[in-house]
Amino acid sequence: MKISINRKAHFNAAHRLHKEGYSDEENLKVFGKCSNPLYHGHNYELIVTVTGEIDPETGFVMNLDILKKIIKDEVEYYLDHKNLNLEVEEFKKLNPTAENISVVIWKRIRAKLNSKYELKVTLFETPRNYVEYWGD
Ligand code: NI
Repeated sequence: MKISINRKAHFNAAHRLHKEGYSDEENLKVFGKCSNPLYHGHNYELIVTVTGEIDPETGFVMNLDILKKIIKDEVEYYLDHKNLNLEVEEFKKLNPTAENISVVIWKRIRAKLNSKYELKVTLFETPRNYVEYWGD
């Protein structure tokens, strides 16, 4: 029997969505307000979902303190209060959309998580817009 546990986290970050070679006007048309050349911030809300079997010895899927620490090290420390375009390696050539941020977060957590677990990340860029990534 598989069951999912969830941990919520939060970070603030600045970004700008744009395509190299587009004029400011074209970027505005494609990326809307997120194309602001002088950047802007979002309050990102993250839900990390780990799915696995219940360990009969502990009754846990995994110890949430361990998951909390992985999220703190791999997501909060890495992204909180950063300018994603300028300060985060992955986004120097990749648009920091909610989709791409979710993939980066998923890969960073996946690398620290026992392979027996399934991982999903849900990232809210605004209270109404969110992205889910289950991995590839
Ligand atoms: Ni934005």
